[in-house]
This record gives sequence, C-alpha cells and structure tokens, in this order.
Amino acid sequence: FFAGIAALRALTPDAASGAGTLTVDALVGTQTGNSEFLAQDLAAAARQRGIVVRTAELDSVSVEQLAAMPLVLVITSTYGEGEMPDNAELFWEALAAEGAPRLEDTRFAVLALGDSGYDDFCQAGKLIDLRLEQLGAMRLVPRVDCDVDYEDAAAGWIADVVERLAVEVPAGGGTAGGGAAAGAGAGGAGAVPATEAGAAPAARQRSPWNRKTPYPSRLAVNRILSGDRSAKEIRHYELDLGDSGIAYASGDALAVVPENDPALVAEVLTQLGIDRDEEVAGAALGELLHTAWEIRTPSKELLAAIAEQQPAGDLAAVLAHSDRDMLESWLWGRDTLDVLRTAPGLRFEPDALPALFRPLQQRAYSISSSPLASPDRIHLTVASVRHGDDGRMRGGVCSTHLADRLAAEHPVGVYLQPNAAFRLPADDDAPVVMIGPGTGIAPFRGFLQEREARGGSGRNWLFFGDQHRDSDFIYEQELGAWSASGVLTRLDLAFSRDQAEKVYVQTRMREHGRELYDWLEQGASVYVCGDASRMAKDVDRALHDVIAEHGGGAARAEEYVAGLKRAKRYVRDVY
Ligand code: 2AM
Repeated sequence: FFAGIAALRALTPDAASGAGTLTVDALVGTQTGNSEFLAQDLAAAARQRGIVVRTAELDSVSVEQLAAMPLVLVITSTYGEGEMPDNAELFWEALAAEGAPRLEDTRFAVLALGDSGYDDFCQAGKLIDLRLEQLGAMRLVPRVDCDVDYEDAAAGWIADVVERLAVEVPAGGGTAGGGAAAGAGAGGAGAVPATEAGAAPAARQRSPWNRKTPYPSRLAVNRILSGDRSAKEIRHYELDLGDSGIAYASGDALAVVPENDPALVAEVLTQLGIDRDEEVAGAALGELLHTAWEIRTPSKELLAAIAEQQPAGDLAAVLAHSDRDMLESWLWGRDTLDVLRTAPGLRFEPDALPALFRPLQQRAYSISSSPLASPDRIHLTVASVRHGDDGRMRGGVCSTHLADRLAAEHPVGVYLQPNAAFRLPADDDAPVVMIGPGTGIAPFRGFLQEREARGGSGRNWLFFGDQHRDSDFIYEQELGAWSASGVLTRLDLAFSRDQAEKVYVQTRMREHGRELYDWLEQGASVYVCGDASRMAKDVDRALHDVIAEHGGGAARAEEYVAGLKRAKRYVRDVY
C-alpha cells in the first residue's frame, strides 16, 4: 500500500537522463492524485518521442533546485478557495518570497486543474504560472486551465508540450520506447531526492474505473449511526467491490456518482414548462436533469439568464451589485428550484438549457475502512445533508441519493480517488495522532483497522468530538473495543454542547499539550480530517501553540510545523 507515496514523494526517474536524450522535470501539486496521473500520461507520451520525464512533488523541490532545472512542467490542482494543494504549499511559499532566485535559465509550462464553479478557478496554477514568468523563466506553451472534465484539455496540453520539446531531442537520442531504465536519478539538475538506482517504485496503478466509466457497485449496508436526538443524520455505508478489481488503501477516498432526486427533476421540468421527453443533442431533457446536470446549486449562467429575463426581479437586483457575499447570502438555503420559482413564467428554448446547467459532479468521501479488515467492501461514513424550514425539504444530491434512493437492485457508480498523501507511516511502530471530529473520524476508523491488522507497536491517539455524547458518539463500541485492546492508546473526546462552555477537539489538544508535544518529539505523525473552514484552521493554531509553549516559542513552532509538513508528518484531509 505504501509504494504509492514513495512513488510520488521521491523522484520517479522514468529513465536515465544520459547523453542523447532530453530530460524534463514534471512537478506535481495534487490533492487527489489527478495531477500525478496526468504526469504519468505526460511521461508516457514524452517517452515515445525520446524525452525523459522525471516526476516529483512540488514541495520536494527547493527554489535553488528549480533554478537549476532547464525544463520544468508544472501540473497542479487548486484546493479549497483558490489554495495550493497540500503538497505544493511550501514550494509556493518559497517561490513567492522576495528572495526567490531569478529563473532566466528555466523554461516552463503549467497545466492547471480546477473547478470553474469556484471563483478562484485554477488559482494555484495561475499563480505559479505568473510567478515563474515574473522571475524571468520562459514559457514554452500557454497555460491550460482545466475544468472538472479535465481529460481532453489536459491531453491537448500534453500533446502540445511534447510536440514543442520533441524538436529539441538531440539527433540519435532515444526513440520510441527509449530511455533504458538504468542508473536513475543522477543527471540534469538531479539534486532532487531520487529513488535509488534500479529501485524506482512502480508507478501507482491506475484503476480501470474512473469519472467517465465508474464501477457499478451495490450498496450492501446503509445504517444510521447517529442517535434519534442528534441534530445530524450520519450514516454508515458499505459498497460492494465485487469483481471491480479496485484495490484501495486506508486514507483514500471513494468518488460516488450521484443521480438527482426524480421528484425534484419533475418539479424543475414543471417549473420550466418543458416536457421530459423533449430532446436536446440526442438526449431527453428528463434524463439529462436526472443524471447529467447539477440541479441543486444553480450555475452562474442560469442566474445571469434569469436576471436577464426578469430585469425587475430580486435576482437581477442582487446580481447588479456584483457583490459576491450578497449573492451568497441570497442563495443561502435556496436551490435551483427555489431560484426558478422566484421568476415564474420563465421560459428557455430547450437548446439554450445545456449551457445553463453545470455537469453533475461526483462526490468524494473519505473511506472509513481498511482493505486489511474489509477487502471486498468499501465503508463510508457520511452525513446526510437535509434542510428546509418552509415545508419543502432540500437534500444534498449525493448524500440523499445514498441514504434514500438506492434500492438493492439499483447500482451506484463509484471509482477510487487515491490520496497518496494521506497514509499511515510505513513504520508500524511509529506513533500516530488523529484529529477527526464528526464525520472526520472516517479515515481514522480505517487507520485503526489497519494498525490493528498490521499488529505493530505504534501508539495511536484519537481526538474525536461532536455536539452531544448521547446522540453523536458514532462508532462508540468499536472505539471502546480498541481502547480496551490497546490498539487505541488514547481517546480524547470533545462534546461541544454537553456543558455550558464549548469544548472542541483543539481544547483537548491544548489541555494535553505537554503530552502531545512529547509524542511529536517521539516521531508522531499528525492527521487531521473534517471541516476545513473552521475546525482545521483552529486545530492548526492549537498545534502551533502547543509546540510554541512546550518547544521553545512561536518562531520555533513555525519552523517545527513546516518540518512536520515536509516530512509528511502533518497531513490533512479537510473539506
Ligand atoms: P458546535 O456545533 O457545537 O459549535 C462536529 O461538527 C463538531 O465540531 C461539533 O461539536 C461542533 O461544535 C464542532 N465545531 C464547531 N466549530 C468548530 C471549530 N472551529 N473547531 C473545532 N470544532 C468545531
């Protein structure tokens, strides 16, 4: 299971960078592995033309090493609200710094991955592209920004880059299949940590199942974990892997391809006054709304089109301010149907509709099992999204699809979304600290299953919490059993609403700061999973504070945490 990280973290020399070949460095920033897979595609295409591609994570490269690289191809996704992916943060910090070296001897190209549903579309790639230019590097081909359906655009960029570089391959250089895989890593600007010669780990296996061809899985278990009195509905799911051949690792995510609620589809059709059988580009509108288009969150295009038809309406007034916060608060709690209902009598030509809906997206959930404990079924731990106080229940697309609409005979499309960064230490004797309130516990249930099965001596410390102990202490019995058997060395609980004062996981971290710091000093890895907007930030602050208090001040804490990140001992799976 750990070959994956090694393959990504270290340089993966595609072949020797000997004389007679052209060597380029592909640097990847990835949250889900897509960039890494594209780097593999790039390497394969380049090899055909006698070009050797060496792949490394952005964070494994210093700016000095970068300056010594003549040809750099950056493939990076963007994470959250325009942020760098976790394995590109340190690289970006150094590149953006005032003292960054000039890069006059470097030529580069950037492939940016993102989601145009966000304002800061492809921001990480855009920033790196711009900064490289500012530092004097020369752009080989224009940056390409890929949306969620990235495959074709990415393939185009790869073809352009390879075409552009192929003319520079020295005569007599490697031809098809070229670049014998001998004597890895020493050539070029090879100061990047290289795998040992001959020991290059196999590239991570790409599953045959993907976004375009998901595996039709069966939902074998659908069970409520949270109690009746909980404010939430958290469910445990088990999805059969059957003969899919999907080999997962704990820490990975499973992408689930949802379908919209047929009842909601019917209402949207009625509201738009269109017939479900009406065809657009060869497909019935009813079917498109059911399985292909996002109909919960209205697209920017739909909002603009409505405002145009109803210039005196609510929405036009909100949009006229072009104030993002105002628009967001107006949209809060509303879905596409609500929005359509604010503009009754709205009519669109059927042919105009495809441009007004974004593609229905798969949703990725952190897997809550270990393949060592559950090889044939992937477990998920998912909160059902439901809200509505005006008599109409609105539901999360995928969470309610799983919870409500999957009869036994109805398969659900899934595929693996590897998370090579979120892995247990290879050393089973190393200590592990896990911080995962709410459904953030998911990957840690998998980790604990894994640690139990592997039987190492490493200590495990879990911080878990939620609102109330009596209704929200999910997996209580399993955690109790692990505590009793010693798999779980420490379990610290933070139930925020069981007392007058709020108690959060970070409260517990601070209370046990001395011990937490000792664990770090003893080599512990720290994992955080769950809410990104508040929890992960506060946990990050608590971690810094604990280290500052027990490890020699705030400045040292900054350095210490950066060191943990570089060593992959502080990793997060937050959303
Ligand atoms: P609250 O809703 O009572 O404020 C899981 O959702 C748990 O995370 C809940 O107990 C919730 O508490 C808590 N939570 C809310 N904000 C948080 C924050 N900033 N940091 C950590 N936990 C938080």
